[in-house]
Amino acid sequence: MDINSDTKLYCLIGHPISKSLSPYIHNFSFNKNNINAKYLAFEVDKYKLKDCISGIKALDIKGFNVTIPHKVDIINYLDDISEEAKLIGAVNTVKNVNGKLIGYNTDGLGFIKSLYDKKIDLEGKNVLILGSGGASRAISMMLAKEGVRKIHILNRTIDKAKKLINDIKKNFPKIEYSYSNLAEFNINNQQDIDIIINCTSVGMYPDENEIPLDIKFINQNTIVYDIIYKPLKTKFLKKAEEKGCLIINGLKMLIYQALISEEIWLNKKLDLENIVMALEKQDF
Ligand code: ATR
Repeated sequence: MDINSDTKLYCLIGHPISKSLSPYIHNFSFNKNNINAKYLAFEVDKYKLKDCISGIKALDIKGFNVTIPHKVDIINYLDDISEEAKLIGAVNTVKNVNGKLIGYNTDGLGFIKSLYDKKIDLEGKNVLILGSGGASRAISMMLAKEGVRKIHILNRTIDKAKKLINDIKKNFPKIEYSYSNLAEFNINNQQDIDIIINCTSVGMYPDENEIPLDIKFINQNTIVYDIIYKPLKTKFLKKAEEKGCLIINGLKMLIYQALISEEIWLNKKLDLENIVMALEKQDF
């Protein structure tokens, strides 16, 4: 659709955002759904966040996504946040409602939808989560909500893993929790892990040769998920594939979180499955 004076602007703010697929995904969906809107990515470092928010309000930008490093700090500039975002403690989607900024989090739901697409049932599962940043917070909170039995979190900075576990425990006290340092974890003693999820940035372009954890000893029944989508198959996933495990990359989660953001901004249901299918065929 051509740009005209009615075209609405949506955007991503973060740093660095040069490799982001979000503009492609949103503009693809706007086109497919005949929505008179465009989506741009703006490089905003943490010193510019306050000015950026004033600019968004002044220009009446209708909605935006938030990525590294602003997912937590953005909360200080919002008028309200959803129950889910409150639970997670991070926001990745903001809607401008008549000048009031409302925060949401669609990362966790995007992740869960990508698992349910593969008919993976989460109830009673034992999950190992690598990382304790914004994405890990959203994912682990949603896994707890979906009824997993055990959550073990590994992180380079142990205090962050501990804090995340405490935050989840407050809301979901019946789950079995544990945490440890990523470098000291001994996978040999963990035979019954159903799903491992890498939520660290280890293995992401351009450091594609790194792996967050040696998974030599897992068996083929473990599902291995890496939320990284650049590259589509990280070294971590390649190692898991060699073991015969079901592997899942971060592309579907990314697409789902983007489209769920759009549903919030536009206040309407989109045909998610169809757009996801069309997007998955693109050459990223
Ligand atoms: P996101 O919003 O994508 O989750 P983030 O909040 O910056 O991004 O979190 C990044 C995660 O990757 C953190 O768990 C981080 O570990 P620390 O809490 O110790 O910083 C992890 N991470 C990043 N680089 C890492 C590295 N080289 N080795 C191990 N973990 C790393």
